[in-house]
Amino acid sequence: MELRKNLLLFFTLLFITIAWSNTDKYRLTWREDPSTTMVIGWNQISGSNAVVHFGAQDFGTDYNLYPSSKTVDRTVSRKGMNNNYARLTGLQPDTAYYFVIRDSEGVSERFWFMTAPNDPTTRLSIVAGGDSRNNRTPRQNANRLVAKLRPHAVLFGGDMTDDSTSSQWQNWFNDWQLTIGSDGRMIPVVAARGNHESSNDIRDLFDIPTAAGGEFYALSFGGNLIRTYTLNTEVTPGGTQGTWLANDLAANSENHIWAVAQYHRATRPHQSGKSEQNDQYEAWSKPFYTHAVQLVMESDSHVVKRTWPIKPSTDSGNDEGFIRVDTDPNRAIYVGEGCWGAPIRSANDSKSWTRAAGSFNQFKWLWIDQSKIELRTVKVDNASSVGQLSDNNLFTLPSNIDLWNPSGGTVVTIDNPHGGGVLSVTDVDAPARFTVYPNPIQSGALTISNLNSKEVVGSKVIIRDILGKVINEVVITPEITTYNIDNLKSGIYFINIETKKGKVTQRFIKT
Ligand SMILES: [Fe+2]
Repeated sequence: MELRKNLLLFFTLLFITIAWSNTDKYRLTWREDPSTTMVIGWNQISGSNAVVHFGAQDFGTDYNLYPSSKTVDRTVSRKGMNNNYARLTGLQPDTAYYFVIRDSEGVSERFWFMTAPNDPTTRLSIVAGGDSRNNRTPRQNANRLVAKLRPHAVLFGGDMTDDSTSSQWQNWFNDWQLTIGSDGRMIPVVAARGNHESSNDIRDLFDIPTAAGGEFYALSFGGNLIRTYTLNTEVTPGGTQGTWLANDLAANSENHIWAVAQYHRATRPHQSGKSEQNDQYEAWSKPFYTHAVQLVMESDSHVVKRTWPIKPSTDSGNDEGFIRVDTDPNRAIYVGEGCWGAPIRSANDSKSWTRAAGSFNQFKWLWIDQSKIELRTVKVDNASSVGQLSDNNLFTLPSNIDLWNPSGGTVVTIDNPHGGGVLSVTDVDAPARFTVYPNPIQSGALTISNLNSKEVVGSKVIIRDILGKVINEVVITPEITTYNIDNLKSGIYFINIETKKGKVTQRFIKT
């Protein structure tokens, strides 16, 4: 009897083994709108006629129950892998999709992913980092943490492997499987090229869009919430790339609430052995400032840094061509630089505008909404003891998470620049004298309180939308201290009051 049971178990297991499709090294990337598309990539070990079966309902590995299917759009042999890509389009935003890959040899495990939201009122979670070269333990820990934090996407700034050999890349993708949750949830990666990648490695291993003229591209998340620029430091920063960047920023930065950039080599590295990237300074940092790119994520030096708000400037007090400007609405914060498993180096080249620097294995974790970006630096070494976030509560800190807490604080908060949300230093007491209520407000009149003092009579009240567009202007009189919001659409607004002493801003929400 025992033997029969064992034989049955043996044949059952044999059947299951045979029935798996012969695929591995799964990855998700994007070429187009992250809210309606997804590229599913994998290595086809053997077998043929692979098809992705997918849908918004979970049918496990019963491939024939999924309502949609997609054949392979692109196959490319690179790094000893037969890289297959199925490019899904026409998806619903902010929606869970379940899928399996079926081929001539069977069916894969069932995986799932979330499309990005297309609505700027939905908060985004993004992990950003880079440099995972040759220390697999920290690399695996960082990947395990991605699975626990479940961000909408990972921005990866290059130098995945040490020498870009086939075996190193295969190990990299094997380790990447640790970003997949125990329930099969996969996290898409937005990949940039580093100096350890050859030309077209990123194109062929992540199926990135190259329509702009090379391995550089931009994606918009959350409708107009944020536009991410992924640049390539291994070709000239100006030229085709610089022209594309300037044109895309001119066309799109105004109609997005946030613009951020990621690329490999730090323009002003915080490691003394690394050279200054003056061409990037000219071709990227300057247009970033012109177009109010708010956050720049760099890699390559294998150190940790965060800067104060800075702008490119040769004015007196500048350090290596940047100057700290806390209240300039076009300023950017630069963070970095690597540490996803590459050899850690000493952070020995801080500038006058460096907020904090260090040396440890880490990535950045961003929470992005219309009014602010919150950025934390997550140490990854204790990944196994960190708690698991659930899909309905992604904006909370899991148990045991190890956050960098340098002088200046754990969290870097970047306020929406378009609201003019910058307090003038000449009138720091003003907010205490100025509130708006009710807030949130559904209809009727918003009351601007404490405006009785003589000095605000004659002041200008400006209502701006989330993009900074002026909706209305009112001059304060002893009679007018309210503002009717019935004509406003639902959303976040800023109310600026310009007094003789300076400018103050409050935020209100029309529900
Ligand atoms: Fe590098």
